Amino acid sequence: MLKMGFVGWRGMVGSVLIQRMIEENDFNSIEPIFFSTSKAGKTCPIFDAKIQNAYDLNKLKKLNVIITCQGGDYTKRIYKSLRNSGWKGYWIDSSSKLRMDSNSIIILDPINLKIIEQSLDLGIKNFIGGNCTVSLMLLSLGGLFKNNLIEWITSMTYQAASGAGSKHMIELLNQMRILGNLVKKNNHAKSILEIDSKITKYMGSLPIKNFGAPIAGSLIPWIDQKMDNGQSKEEWKGNVETNKILGFSPNTIKIDGICVRIGAMRCHSQAFIIKLKKDIPLYDIESIIKEHNPWVKVIKNDSNSSLKKLTPAAVSGTMSIPIGRLRKLSFGKKYITAFTVGDQLLWGAAEPIRRMLKILVNR
Ligand code: HSE
Repeated sequence: MLKMGFVGWRGMVGSVLIQRMIEENDFNSIEPIFFSTSKAGKTCPIFDAKIQNAYDLNKLKKLNVIITCQGGDYTKRIYKSLRNSGWKGYWIDSSSKLRMDSNSIIILDPINLKIIEQSLDLGIKNFIGGNCTVSLMLLSLGGLFKNNLIEWITSMTYQAASGAGSKHMIELLNQMRILGNLVKKNNHAKSILEIDSKITKYMGSLPIKNFGAPIAGSLIPWIDQKMDNGQSKEEWKGNVETNKILGFSPNTIKIDGICVRIGAMRCHSQAFIIKLKKDIPLYDIESIIKEHNPWVKVIKNDSNSSLKKLTPAAVSGTMSIPIGRLRKLSFGKKYITAFTVGDQLLWGAAEPIRRMLKILVNR
C-alpha cells in the first residue's frame, strides 16, 4: 500500500478532501499518515494516530506520496529541501506555487487523463491542482475543448468568498449580519430609501480586514496581484493554466476576461462569450457539452430552469457542473454565450486531488 502523508488536512480544502475520501472509501486502499505544522504529537481526530511534524524531512522522506493543502508558503519552505535530500515520491499540491513549473502537471483528469498517464510513464512526480475557475470552466465546456471547437473565450467570473479563504467567508457573513440588522421586522417598501441610506452609511464602517472592501451588498472587481499587462493574476491564470492543462503552449486557445469577487459562499459562477471555430447548430453544441462527462448538466435556457438549477444556492455542496443560458449571440453564427456554476471547494479544489490519489493507487 502506498504511504500517503497529508499536510493541511484541517483547513477548508483539506477538510473537504478528507470528507470526500471517507465518502468514497479511499482510505481503505492507502496507508495515511497525518502531518501538521502546529499540532505534531497530538492525536489525529480522523484516525487514532499520532500527528507527525510537517517540517520533519526524515519523516516526510519515508512517504510515497505527499498531499499538501497547506498553501504556497509551506511548499516554498519544504519542497526544495525535500527533493534535495533525494526524495523521489509524488508531490500533490493544492497551492499554485509549483503549478507552472515545467516538471509539474496540472491535474484535472476528466480533461487531461492522457497527459497525466503519459507524464507518470515519463517519471514526472509533481501533480498540482489547478485554479478553481479554470477547472470549473474546463469541466463545463469539456466537450467543446475536446472537439477543438473553441477559437477564443471571454470569461467573466463571479467568484465566491471561499476562493479567498475561510476568514473571508466569515467576514462576508459578518458584513451581511451588520447590514441585515439595519432592517427592522416591520419595515415595508415605503421606507426602503430610508433603509438604503442607512446601508450606504454603514457600508463604510463594515469589517473589511480580509477583503479590503465591503462585499455584502457590493462586489470587488479585482482578485489577486496585478500583472504587467493590466490583468489581475486570476485573469492571467485563465489563459496559461487552461492551455497547460490541455497540453498546449500559452495562448493557443485565447482566454481573457474580468474576475470579480461576489458575496456567494462557495460556488464560483462564470459567464462566457465563446467564438467557435465553425458554425454548429445549438442542439449539437448542447449534445457535445453534455456527453463529455457525468457531472456537467445542460440547463434549459429559460427563467424557471435558471432560477432552480443555475445558481450558487442550487449547486453548493454538490458535484454538479450546470451550464445554461446557452444561445447563439446576435454577433454571428459562430458566437455563443453560456453561464456555469460549480462548487469551488469540490471540483474547484479537492476533487481533482482526490482523483489523482486514485490514479496513483490504481497504477
Ligand atoms: N484563486 C481562486 C479565488 C481560488 O480566489 O477564488 C483558488 O483557485
